[in-house]
Formats: sequence, structure tokens, C-alpha cells
Amino acid sequence: MDLATFANHQSTPAPPLLEKLARATWQRTRHGRLMTDVQTGRVIAMISKLMQPTTILELGTFTGYGTLCLLEGLGPEGTLHTVESNDELFSLQDEFWQQAEGGHRIQRHHADALAFLHQWKVPLNGTVDLVYVDADKQNVNAQLDALLPLLSERGCLLFDNTWWNGTLYSRENGTGGSAAKADAMRRLNERLLSDTALQTVTVPTGDGLSVVRKA
Ligand SMILES: C[S@@+](CC[C@H](N)C(=O)[O-])C[C@H]1O[C@@H](n2cnc3c(N)ncnc32)[C@H](O)[C@@H]1O
Repeated sequence: MDLATFANHQSTPAPPLLEKLARATWQRTRHGRLMTDVQTGRVIAMISKLMQPTTILELGTFTGYGTLCLLEGLGPEGTLHTVESNDELFSLQDEFWQQAEGGHRIQRHHADALAFLHQWKVPLNGTVDLVYVDADKQNVNAQLDALLPLLSERGCLLFDNTWWNGTLYSRENGTGGSAAKADAMRRLNERLLSDTALQTVTVPTGDGLSVVRKA
């Protein structure tokens, strides 16, 4: 048994609706591997439950697996904004969000992630408690710049894929677009460590999850 499987066995299982969504994602989309993995999902759900955020923001919804994990901790009267550019995914998201407790508090935005951040700069300024950054990786540094002013005092950023398919710790880049994304993730990791205004811990789950707060 590998370490990830062992860690999964040592964790409270994901709710049945999430297991159903994971199966539907693999059966009904061509890109199941894009979905947040089970263990990362449990970690972000736990962080959300501990924080009880009033405003959550997710960049990159895909089929809504991470959305439902984050929703588990959304505080009373809270709103979960999630941003996705591909509207072909919306019917699958709706099907599962309608079955989720509190699913009506998910506000979906059909937009480019960075454009959304610029557009919503004023209404969200200083209010966002928890952000899950999981959209277009090549723009992740511009997204960080745009996200910092949106964070509330207790605001927390979660960056998925900070190992970029393992290439960042094995020091071998992928090719083509993937190399550009690896570069962006490498620059992000360097920024998170060198910026003394931020405090970061990278959790060895999935493809690397970096948890960031204001120092
Ligand atoms: C890795 S998947 C997200 C996985 C999801 N967070 C989950 O929990 O399963 C990345 C998603 O970002 C979307 N995406 C890619 N580029 C985007 C952009 N510029 N703006 C918004 N969404 C984007 C993709 O369509 C895809 O659904």
C-alpha cells in the first residue's frame, strides 16, 4: 500500500455524495484526472470546517468536487463563489449541488478567473476568508496579486498542484504548455517562501497543497 492510500485509510471517508460525484466525473467527462483527489478534498474540507468561513472563493470549478468539500465548512449565511470558464460542466455541477445541503449558497460565475478577480475587486475587497486556487496555472502569480487585497484578516489561500505533477521536486520539467505551467508554479512557490508578509505550509497530499496566510 502506498503512503497516499494509507493516509486515505486513516481518514474519515468523504461523504457518499462526493463518492457519487467522483464516479460521475470519471464516467461523464474526458478529464477525470483534473478533479481534486480524495485526500486533498478531505484536507480542504477540514480547513473549511475549522475556519467556518463566511465568504469562500474557488477558482476553477471543474465538476464541483472541491466546491462541495469547501461547502462542508461554510458558515451560516455564508456564500461560496466559484469561477469556471467552461460552461459545458454546468449541468453536471447543478445535478450534484442540488442534492447537497446548502447547495443553494453556491454562486457560480461563468468567467475567466483573472478577469473575475479584477471585476469583483470592489465587492469582495477585504472579505474573503478562504480561497481555493485551482484554475489556469500559467496565471497563478497574477491571481495571487489580485487575491491578496481580497483577503479578510483571517484570510487563507489554498493552492493546489504546487508540486506540478511532481516535476518541481524531481527538477524535471514537462514539455510545451506544461513546462510554462511548471515555471509559473515554481515562481509561485518561490514567492510564497520569500514574501515575509506571508506564512506558508505545503501539505504532501495529492499534487502538493500549499496553505497560505498573512504572517
Ligand atoms: C484542475 S480543474 C479544477 C478542479 C476542481 N477545483 C475540483 O475540485 O475538482 C481546473 C478547472 O479550471 C478551469 N479553467 C481553466 N482555465 C480557466 C480560466 N482561465 N478561468 C476559469 N476557469 C478556468 C478548467 O475548465 C477546469 O474545469
